[in-house]
Amino acid sequence: MSSVDWDARYRDGETPWEKGMAHPALPFFVSSHPGIFEKKPRVFHPGCGFGHDAAILVPHCEELTALDLAAAPLEAAKDLYPTESIRWEVGDLFAWDEPEKYDLVWEHTCFCAIPLEFRTKYVKAVHRLLKPGGHLAGIFFLNPDHALEEGPPFGVTRDELNGFFGNGFELLEDHPKPETYEGRENRETLMVWRKRS
Ligand SMILES: C[S@@+](CC[C@H](N)C(=O)[O-])C[C@H]1O[C@@H](n2cnc3c(N)ncnc32)[C@H](O)[C@@H]1O
Repeated sequence: MSSVDWDARYRDGETPWEKGMAHPALPFFVSSHPGIFEKKPRVFHPGCGFGHDAAILVPHCEELTALDLAAAPLEAAKDLYPTESIRWEVGDLFAWDEPEKYDLVWEHTCFCAIPLEFRTKYVKAVHRLLKPGGHLAGIFFLNPDHALEEGPPFGVTRDELNGFFGNGFELLEDHPKPETYEGRENRETLMVWRKRS
């Protein structure tokens, strides 16, 4: 369910989002949320790409599932981060389900990769996968330097994010200037949402 052949993008090296390292704001998020990480959460990370964020998260997790629609980056991720602690899965976020729900979903430019007509499906999938009171946190890409129809990435406004997530989630934090990669300044926000029970 995607207008983009993500596997082909990876195979052809057309991956401008790939920075060779985890999002720079991720260590801040982990260290500033003892309430989430002291309990060693079950974490789900959709659209994990090469898995750099998963490698930062995994020491703080009881269990970490890193999912991507494309197989190519997951093969690379397994070589880059050869740990059995990360469960690498090829799959579609929209179809993913598990009997045991997650405490945390870590988002990093997966939402902005989703075609506009499927955004509600993203919201429903994340809501379904979280425990009541579980957290959706991560980097939401707001304003790429191209027109909306030229995405992905597909830009989104804060009002739109509130519209999508506001019913099922409560917005706990919005950090409009997270530490980020060079060149991405002022294009992202780090948000923390809590699933309403
Ligand atoms: C912009 S990339 C971001 C990758 C990684 N998070 C990063 O920042 O390097 C978006 C990723 O989402 C994946 N993706 C897109 N649609 C997906 C879906 N429905 N389910 C799972 N992964 C998806 C793509 O294959 C791609 O790896």
